[in-house]
Amino acid sequence: MPIGMPTGEQLFKAAVQHQIDGNLGEAERLYQSFLTDHPHRDDAYFGYGLLCLGAGRKEEAVGHFERALFIAPGNVDYWANLATANYSIGRINDAGYAHLRALRIEPGNIDIQQLRDDFAAKPHVFGESAIHSAHAPARQVYMSACVDILGKSLGDTPPPLRILEIGSYMGASLLTWAAAAERLYRKGCEILCIDPWGDSGAGQYKPGVQQALESQIAYEIFRHNAAVTGKKDNVSVIEMRATSRAALPLLGDKQFHLIYVDGGHFYDDANFDIGACHRLLSPGGIMCGDDLELQAHQCDMEFLRANTSADYVTTPNGEELHPGVTLAVHEFFGKVSAFEGFWAMRKQDGGGYQQVEFSGATGIIPGHWPEHLQDQARAHFAENQTIGALIG
Ligand SMILES: C[S@@+](CC[C@H](N)C(=O)[O-])C[C@H]1O[C@@H](n2cnc3c(N)ncnc32)[C@H](O)[C@@H]1O
Repeated sequence: MPIGMPTGEQLFKAAVQHQIDGNLGEAERLYQSFLTDHPHRDDAYFGYGLLCLGAGRKEEAVGHFERALFIAPGNVDYWANLATANYSIGRINDAGYAHLRALRIEPGNIDIQQLRDDFAAKPHVFGESAIHSAHAPARQVYMSACVDILGKSLGDTPPPLRILEIGSYMGASLLTWAAAAERLYRKGCEILCIDPWGDSGAGQYKPGVQQALESQIAYEIFRHNAAVTGKKDNVSVIEMRATSRAALPLLGDKQFHLIYVDGGHFYDDANFDIGACHRLLSPGGIMCGDDLELQAHQCDMEFLRANTSADYVTTPNGEELHPGVTLAVHEFFGKVSAFEGFWAMRKQDGGGYQQVEFSGATGIIPGHWPEHLQDQARAHFAENQTIGALIG
């Protein structure tokens, strides 16, 4: 070895030191160099994995932790960090398995037990890009306010409050319904979720959503969030893995107090869903939905009709909207009450609909959403006095 060249061990130590000092680029270069000559060193794969995890490169972190464990399967820290990395990318079953392996090695390790219990108890929101409607967090508040309105008007009607959701994805909206049921309704609530979770229809969404659906990560996260939700005393969740066309005909007339339409965005799907849900909604109930950025009276109808098989488009004026949703809502209801893309209409005894007014209602800031999105929702209501009261 030429004089002055660092030994392998020095290289490794320098990599760790750079990592501690926050010089991640240099640390990574040294890890790579060290591992080229020392591929049997589990501790270097582990350190490299921690670096990737800290830098948000979670898939890579999983790969490095797995290599470290391939070499040293008895290391509890490696299993614990593999669990954390897997959980963060929605591989919840793999995370559970990693905790299991760690606890087999050290059954009394209370840190691992605590981590495992924390993961099982907390909602999983994956990341901002995966939270549908993250661009308009105020929508969640209006959703919860619908539960408040219904709770007040149902009076002595015996529970449960019955909610139907078409399009559940990872369960972010389910968490919103459940929080509202727990904090605003407080009596028994059943939430029925319908979604094919990648078995069909995934191709209509942008690549990240499509990938999450087809890889089954979205379903895994939904199942986790449904299990977390199911721990609330007054909430039960039932899922139906199917398209709305297959599932809705199985349901009886006027069964639901609240129906949320957030499934397929193409006109044919949205039109079918709204029409079918009319039959399922009880008088006094609320039908509502997502993705109504603009109403038809604000649009060029020809443009809407030319884009019925599109998910999300930009108009010639530079406005973005879901044309299928806009057209379907317009054809069934006409003008609806709409707030930040969330729309809602209340069914009358005679079967007609009237707009929903939120000024007497209480809404909840979605506590399961990241802090900065909660702040955005608060800012929206500080500017717009559209809701009676805010919790959270
Ligand atoms: C926009 S995401 C729903 C987001 C979710 N409500 C939330 O707020 O987190 C749309 C979901 O609708 C589902 N979907 C697509 N076509 C559907 C159909 N025909 N019937 C029911 N669900 C459908 C997709 O699988 C996807 O999970």
